[in-house]
Amino acid sequence: MPDYLIAPSILSADFARLGEDVSNVLDAGADVVHFDVMDNHFVPNLTVGPMVCKSLRNYGISAVIDVHLMIEPVDALIPPFANAGADIITFHPEASQDVAATLALIKENGCKAGLVLNPSTPLEQAIPFLTQIDVLLLMSVNPGFGGQSFIPATLDKIRQARALIDKQQLSIKLEVDGGINLDNISDVAAAGADMFVAGSAIFASKDYRKTITQMRSALTQ
Ligand code: DX5
Ligand code: ZN
Repeated sequence: MPDYLIAPSILSADFARLGEDVSNVLDAGADVVHFDVMDNHFVPNLTVGPMVCKSLRNYGISAVIDVHLMIEPVDALIPPFANAGADIITFHPEASQDVAATLALIKENGCKAGLVLNPSTPLEQAIPFLTQIDVLLLMSVNPGFGGQSFIPATLDKIRQARALIDKQQLSIKLEVDGGINLDNISDVAAAGADMFVAGSAIFASKDYRKTITQMRSALTQ
């Protein structure tokens, strides 16, 4: 059985009391903190930067922080995020002039590196970099906002990505982001994903523990 990771997206957390909310979701059983960074340029929304990541570390958050960069250009913010306590940094290939160099920069800064593919970006874009990445993140919504509906065509892309990873016996985490909830998480797992971002489905629920426990049991059925 794959090692399934549930990664709540801070996008739907309460930013006025972020440390407490992230701490609560981790106490409730989440594995990873998914940290969405938007620049109002690569995507039409604006969130937070390295200072807030550092603040979470200072608050005492010790879980893995998975930084999803939806910014362009990306390179200049990689060392600041690594210094702020990021463990994983992923970016969209469209946002880098030299994808291999950006991946190398992330690793030089001591983080795991990943590529993110939008729903309309073909899987082929990631193929030349498969031996360089630790995480492949497939978007199941168009990036920019939480609370959107899962795009069903993503399931096929997940299956193809899983086949590629397994064929080459690579140890890449296959992460899926957008619209994941209790109704579809088992389909996403059955297609081959092993890391699940969920923002609104977790943070908008009244009882984080109940939701995460139900998600985990949907994954293991
Ligand atoms: C979208 C972000 C996602 C999103 C997930 O641009 O990358 O992480 O916030 O939120 P939900 O689970 O609500 O779709
Ligand atoms: Zn994200």
